[in-house]
Amino acid sequence: MNRFPTNKFAAIETPFYYYDVELLKKTLDSAIGEASKHEGFHIHYAIKANFNPKLLQIINAAGMGADCVSGGEVKAALAAGIPAEKIVFAGVGKTEKEIRLSLEAGIFCFNVESLPEAELINELAAEYGKNAQIAIRVNPGVGAHTHANITTGLAENKFGINYELLGETIDTIGEFKNITLVGLHFHIGSQILEMEDFAVLCNRINEIQEMLENEKGIVLPHLNVGGGLGIDYNEPEKNPIPDFATYFATYASSLKRREGQQVHFELGRSIVGQCGTLVSRVTYVKHGTCKKFVIIDAGMNDLVRPALYQAYHEIENLSSDGAAEKYDIVGPICESSDVFAKDRSLPQTKRGDIIAIHSAGAYGEAMSFGYNCRELAKAYLSTEI
Ligand code: LLP
Repeated sequence: MNRFPTNKFAAIETPFYYYDVELLKKTLDSAIGEASKHEGFHIHYAIKANFNPKLLQIINAAGMGADCVSGGEVKAALAAGIPAEKIVFAGVGKTEKEIRLSLEAGIFCFNVESLPEAELINELAAEYGKNAQIAIRVNPGVGAHTHANITTGLAENKFGINYELLGETIDTIGEFKNITLVGLHFHIGSQILEMEDFAVLCNRINEIQEMLENEKGIVLPHLNVGGGLGIDYNEPEKNPIPDFATYFATYASSLKRREGQQVHFELGRSIVGQCGTLVSRVTYVKHGTCKKFVIIDAGMNDLVRPALYQAYHEIENLSSDGAAEKYDIVGPICESSDVFAKDRSLPQTKRGDIIAIHSAGAYGEAMSFGYNCRELAKAYLSTEI
C-alpha cells in the first residue's frame, strides 16, 4: 500500500517535493493538542526545517508561532501571517540589519547568544526608543544521543553562553537600559529519540533556576527549551506522527516550573519531517562489475542529508513490484558523496521508474541548493495535484 497518487506523479517533471497536507494537519493537531494539555506550553515552529510559504500558511493557521534564525526567516514568518508577538529569533551571528528588522516588527523575543550581541540589540533598541525582550541562550553542557553535526549543547559547540558564565553575563546585561531579560533559552540538538536526553536537560535547567534564585534572587517568566524531537526515518509508514504526548509529558514532569512560568518549544523536524517526500525518476540503471547503480534525477543538491550526515531515508520504487535486488541509489552530480543509499534493496528497477525518498519534509527543500547549475526542485501540496 502506498499513500501516493502515483498516476498523477507520472505527469509531473521530476525531481519534485510532494507534501501530504492531511498528514501535516494531523501532525499539527497532535502536537498542539498534546502541548495544550499542559498549562503555559507554547510551540514556535522552527522555520529552518522548511520555509515553503504554503506550508508556513498551514502551520500559521494551526496557531503555532515561529522560531527564526535569520532576518529572511523573520520575513518569511511575517509573510505567512505569523504574528510578531509569537516570533523568537535565535542565532549566533545576528547582523545589525536583521536586528533592526526584528525590532521594527516588534518580535516577542531575541534568543541572545553572546554579550556583544546583547550590547548591539540594546544600542539599536535605544535608537528606536524601544525596549527589546531577550532570553539568554545557555549552553547547558548536555550532550544528546544524535549525530555529532547536530548536537549543540556541549561546551565545545559555538552556541549560547556557557552556564558557568551565566551569572556575570546577567549582571552586565542588567545595566543595559533598552533590553529586558525575560527568559532562558536552551537547545541540545536535533533528531533526539531518547526522552531521557530531554529529562537530563530539564534537570540542568532546574539547577540553573535554583542557582539564579539563590544567588541573584532572579525568577524569569519564560523558559525556552528549544526543539530536537526526532522522527522515525526507518519506519515512516508505521510511525508517521511523532510521540508528542510522551515528549511534552517528559517536560511537564521533569521541569520544576516557577509559578506562572511559560515554556516555549521550537519544534521543526517533528512537525514537517514525515509529510514531505522527494519524488524522482530513474534516469538509468547501470551495471558495474560488482554493483548495480540506480541513477536518479534527484541529487544531493535536492536533498543533502544523506551526503552530509550519512542520513538514512526510506526509498521506494513506486513503479515496480518485481523481485528485490540490491542497488546503490545515486544522483547525477559530480561528487562521489552524491549517494542516497548503498546496497539498498528495491524491486527490480528500470529507466523511467518513479522513486520516492521518504521523510524528506524537514531539512530537505530548505537545504537544497543550485550546484551544477541545477534548477531547484519544485514543490507540490497533495491538495494541488
Ligand atoms: N531551535 C534551535 C535553536 C535549533 O538550532 C534547531 C535546529 C531547532 C530549534 C529545531 O530543531 P528540530 O526540532 O528540527 O530538531 N540539518 C540538520 C538539522 C539541523 C538542526 C539545526 N537546529 C538535519 O538535516 O538533520
